[in-house]
Amino acid sequence: MTENNFIFDDEFVISSEGRVGWKAPSNIALVKYWGKKPNQIPANPSISFTLDACATTTTVTYKKLDKISSDFSFDLFFDGKENQDFKPKIQTFFERIDKYVPFLKSCHLKIETSNSFPHSSGIASSASGMGALALCVMSIEKQLNPEITQSYFNRKASFLARLGSGSACRSIEGPFIQWGKYGGIKESSNLFGVSYPFKVHSNFMNYHDTILLVHKGQKTVSSTVGHELMHNHPFANQRFEQAHNNLDKLEQVFEKGDLNEFIKIVESEALILHAMMMTSLPYFILMKPNTLEIINKIWSFREATNTPICFTLDAGANVHVLYPEMVKEKAIQFIQDELVVYCENGHYICDRIGQGATKIA
Ligand code: DP6
Repeated sequence: MTENNFIFDDEFVISSEGRVGWKAPSNIALVKYWGKKPNQIPANPSISFTLDACATTTTVTYKKLDKISSDFSFDLFFDGKENQDFKPKIQTFFERIDKYVPFLKSCHLKIETSNSFPHSSGIASSASGMGALALCVMSIEKQLNPEITQSYFNRKASFLARLGSGSACRSIEGPFIQWGKYGGIKESSNLFGVSYPFKVHSNFMNYHDTILLVHKGQKTVSSTVGHELMHNHPFANQRFEQAHNNLDKLEQVFEKGDLNEFIKIVESEALILHAMMMTSLPYFILMKPNTLEIINKIWSFREATNTPICFTLDAGANVHVLYPEMVKEKAIQFIQDELVVYCENGHYICDRIGQGATKIA
């Protein structure tokens, strides 16, 4: 598929008004996307677990304008209050997707959105937020053209979400989503995420992700800037190649249920992501002292008890603690006894693998 497959047929225009709504989850990458080419094309392929509890709920009420506007007409409400701060990001998103959904300019939109997690938690809401908004736009398209198939709907939602924030394209479906052209998966694409097509062992069903909120403040360097710094990065090419190799290795790991190998790949990916940041120019560090305390505690506990518990990191200081269903009690006890002390105000979020977005209106 190419970009042209997602261009909307002009003959449909909004004739009245309506309301659509979606709840879209966040996701956590196992093999990380870090570095991009123009138009939100990833420099390397990635794969993620779709989450469940961390989600954004968005409704869009649309009303036909008397005449087609040259710009987008929308109001944004966050947690029930009108919000100006997030509007520029949505304006940029609409500009990027205009070509594919031109009907948006023929209506006024009232966007109401909220997150299941506190905004100040340091958890990026861009994946779930852009995922939910892209799905709402697709629901409007579906009302205009009910002929579109479920598979086209999901693909285009992922395609649009990617233009808002790269990782958002992995927040439409679940439980394992691969994004970025990769030789091992025939249907893989740089344009949208696809469901992981191979066998996944039962060890990986119901995997848990307890997110330890180490630092709730604003990040010093945004992901967008971090991606930029992969241009001319001295280790970029090796890193991109390594992502392909790790995806190759994960295929066997998923099939056999090999938790030890899984841990090696996932922790290595997390540390490589941060190693890339530390070796960028300008260099930067997003981990905090407590991030390292937690990592060391996880390593000691794993060594002492042989429990298959590991960590991954996103572009921030928070730690995602990953463990299979079969060690749930032991892992939660360990987290409460030894790790919560490193969280800001003792805050953490218990999440797990999810099945993707749900329609709410
Ligand atoms: C470290 O998707 O937030 O979480 O495309 O600029 O919005 P933009 O970046 P974003 O980057 C996510 C980076 C990551 C790794 C990942 O999710 O694969």
